[in-house]
Amino acid sequence: MRKQTVRDIEVRGRRVLVRVDFNVPLEDGRITDDHRIREALTTITYLAEHGAKIILCSHLGRPKGRVDAALRLDQVAERLAALLGRPVRKTADVVGTDAAAAVGAMKPGEVVLLENLRFHAEEEANDPQFARRLAALADVYVNDAFGSAHRAHASTVGVADHLPAVAGFLMEKELTYLGAMLERPTRPFVAILGGKKVSDKIPVIRHLVTKADTLLLGGAMSYTFLQAQGLGIGKSLVEPEMIDLARELMEEARRREVGFELPTDIVVARAPEAGAPRRVVPVDGIPADWFGVDIGPRTRDRFAAIIREAGTVVWNGPMGIFEIEAFAGGTRAVAQAMADAHAVTIVGGGDTASAVDEAGLGERMTHISTGGGASLEFMEGKVLPGVAALDDAAPVGPEDGG
Ligand code: 3PG
Repeated sequence: MRKQTVRDIEVRGRRVLVRVDFNVPLEDGRITDDHRIREALTTITYLAEHGAKIILCSHLGRPKGRVDAALRLDQVAERLAALLGRPVRKTADVVGTDAAAAVGAMKPGEVVLLENLRFHAEEEANDPQFARRLAALADVYVNDAFGSAHRAHASTVGVADHLPAVAGFLMEKELTYLGAMLERPTRPFVAILGGKKVSDKIPVIRHLVTKADTLLLGGAMSYTFLQAQGLGIGKSLVEPEMIDLARELMEEARRREVGFELPTDIVVARAPEAGAPRRVVPVDGIPADWFGVDIGPRTRDRFAAIIREAGTVVWNGPMGIFEIEAFAGGTRAVAQAMADAHAVTIVGGGDTASAVDEAGLGERMTHISTGGGASLEFMEGKVLPGVAALDDAAPVGPEDGG
């Protein structure tokens, strides 16, 4: 079901509470990637130009209901103001006297950013009283935090019980790209999955096996599948309790005639550390005391050839330990192949988005999701609670009637 968006409501002169996901990475207290802030600008600018009073709210990190000075949103407010070219007033609290006073003094077009929502345990508990207090600050609610839409919290779900609730432009964009990819992909539809843990990706593989034409698997999680095929994987990461499930998924892919490609060669290292001796071995020749750390060159070529022929490609999870330069080649090769492809290319958030950005290829992808966990859960076929809570749009055609 389609959801209403900011276009569907009157915002002029009204107080609009906007849930954004400004959960940006910090290093030594500095923002290292402001992608999520930039992606929220379209909605904020639209609201400002349409005379709304814009009350932004977000979490940052996991302070677990306590005030943590390192996770205050002052720096985020500064970065937002610089990007927006408008002043942003950051409040000292979320629902207390300072927030109320700041909102009370707002004029149309002005922007206030509330303090970190997760300084209150009630936020993650989706406490009805807290949701009511948050909603009391505003006349309308806009959720533009796709990255947090898999969380059923007060600011993503609870407030929607008290206010008209619509999607922002970023939320709409994410749902459009990810939804179209799953429901009507240009074929062949190729899904590339990597990362450390198979257990994190099992539900995604299970769902994608019913949607995609080919699955390409790399990263540490592929070793569990290789072991399930009876291959020795040396000291590579493996989840023994997942081996039976891995076998079942491969069998399911075979039954459905979905391509299921595992690495055919591997970069192995003496230790999963920078500077450790490394070499390339065929997949059936991983030495007993070496670690698999990346996909090998033959696998990269094979994956690139499949990506070249695809109509839609989605990618989630690196192909190796890409944080270490010597083991980043496979991840970079996949990013390059996607950048060169004619396909619709969609990159899941988190590590995969960072890898694409580091390779300088972000601009060449059709869509990079701002959601890590949220994009994964979406690809599992789940309805995200933050999306479900929004008001439905009026049906426009027969396919939209349900
Ligand atoms: C994310 O970074 O994936 C979102 O901001 C959600 O954060 P969380 O996993 O701490 O809920």
